[in-house]
Amino acid sequence: MTKMKYVRSAVFAEDYPAPDRPEVAVAGRSNSGKSSLLNALGGSKVARVSQEPGKTRLLNFFDFGAHYRFTDMPGYGFAARGGDEIKEWTRMIENYLSLRENLQGLVLLMDIRRDWAQEEEMLKQFCHSIDKPICLVLTKSDKCSKQEKANRLKELKKKSGVDDVYVISSQEKQGLDELEEFIFRRWIKDYNPKGDQ
Ligand code: GTP
Ligand code: MG
Repeated sequence: MTKMKYVRSAVFAEDYPAPDRPEVAVAGRSNSGKSSLLNALGGSKVARVSQEPGKTRLLNFFDFGAHYRFTDMPGYGFAARGGDEIKEWTRMIENYLSLRENLQGLVLLMDIRRDWAQEEEMLKQFCHSIDKPICLVLTKSDKCSKQEKANRLKELKKKSGVDDVYVISSQEKQGLDELEEFIFRRWIKDYNPKGDQ
């Protein structure tokens, strides 16, 4: 049984699904484990669609259960990308993040073994500037020893300045329940589309 259902892919706002439920964006460098996380949360390989040629550069929308939706964002950090492509990518991401009325927060993924870099800092700053909350998710924790994990967590918490940090392994299914619980409690449970009191 899967909780995750592919809805559609889009670049422009007119092609996004109707904003009929709260949305959570999943962003991070290419290869950071975004699609793997969505597959692991959904208990299926549904997010593989984003690995099909062409789709990795679009916004991919997935309904999660009946109550909310994830947006699998195209990964940044393709060395081969030229100036125009980076500009288009930036416009797509910034338009989505700043214009999407039902967007509740952004889950920023990074490989636990990597260092906090300029791309992560820019995304964090951008979310801050538009008043969208983020949480940081350190992926592929199965690649580290227990001690290394604790050190990396401490180091990246400090470097990023992000308060809510989770350590996961989609492969070993570690840390997923805690992350899902955080998303639901913080961003979904009290969702109020019109912002009324
Ligand atoms: P793009 O779609 O290119 O932006 O990448 P992505 O962020 O969706 O990454 P994806 O989920 O495709 O994973 C990239 C690679 O990392 C794949 O080879 C995965 O098998 C591997 N990977 C993802 N999660 C884990 C994990 O928890 N542990 C380990 N060891 N490998 C993982
Ligand atoms: Mg992907």
